[in-house]
Amino acid sequence: MKKVVVIYWSGTGNTELMANALADGANINDNEVRILRVEDASKEDVVNADAVALGCPSMGAEVLEESFMEPFVESLSDVVSGKPVALFGSYDWGDGEWMIDWVERMNGYGANLIGEGLIIHLTPEEDGINKCKSLGQELGK
Ligand SMILES: Cc1cc2nc3c(=O)[nH]c(=O)nc-3n(C[C@H](O)[C@H](O)[C@H](O)COP(=O)(O)O)c2cc1C
Repeated sequence: MKKVVVIYWSGTGNTELMANALADGANINDNEVRILRVEDASKEDVVNADAVALGCPSMGAEVLEESFMEPFVESLSDVVSGKPVALFGSYDWGDGEWMIDWVERMNGYGANLIGEGLIIHLTPEEDGINKCKSLGQELGK
């Protein structure tokens, strides 16, 4: 039994759909799975979890959403060392640079990254939802 927390920011719901599918996938082995908007999450939610999924679309010019997600991720710099972390998010016209940077950043914090950062173009279709579920399952193992 693991405590898994999925924390995300989503403006138009695409990353939220990914978050829901990921949480669904993590719901194995009697895991306790929580899903929180970053606006309602705290650093302690990450500290107290065995495994964490963080979701945010590409915003600005290939960056994390700046009001909530960016400071939240910054606050995790000293608490994710060795912790299993999965990253995910939706994008549109870019090439996924925000996710490459985010993966590098979390590696720099010492996180044990599960997967390579799952990115999905706009609204996830069935294939994308299944990828999210698989990542959640991996995280929940
Ligand atoms: C202000 C703003 C900035 C964006 N910047 C980028 C960007 O730099 N690169 C990109 O690929 N998509 C960009 N997008 C598109 C979003 O990543 C895309 O619409 C995504 O599906 C939104 O996810 P959400 O529904 O979870 O909010 C931007 C969207 C907005 C509203």
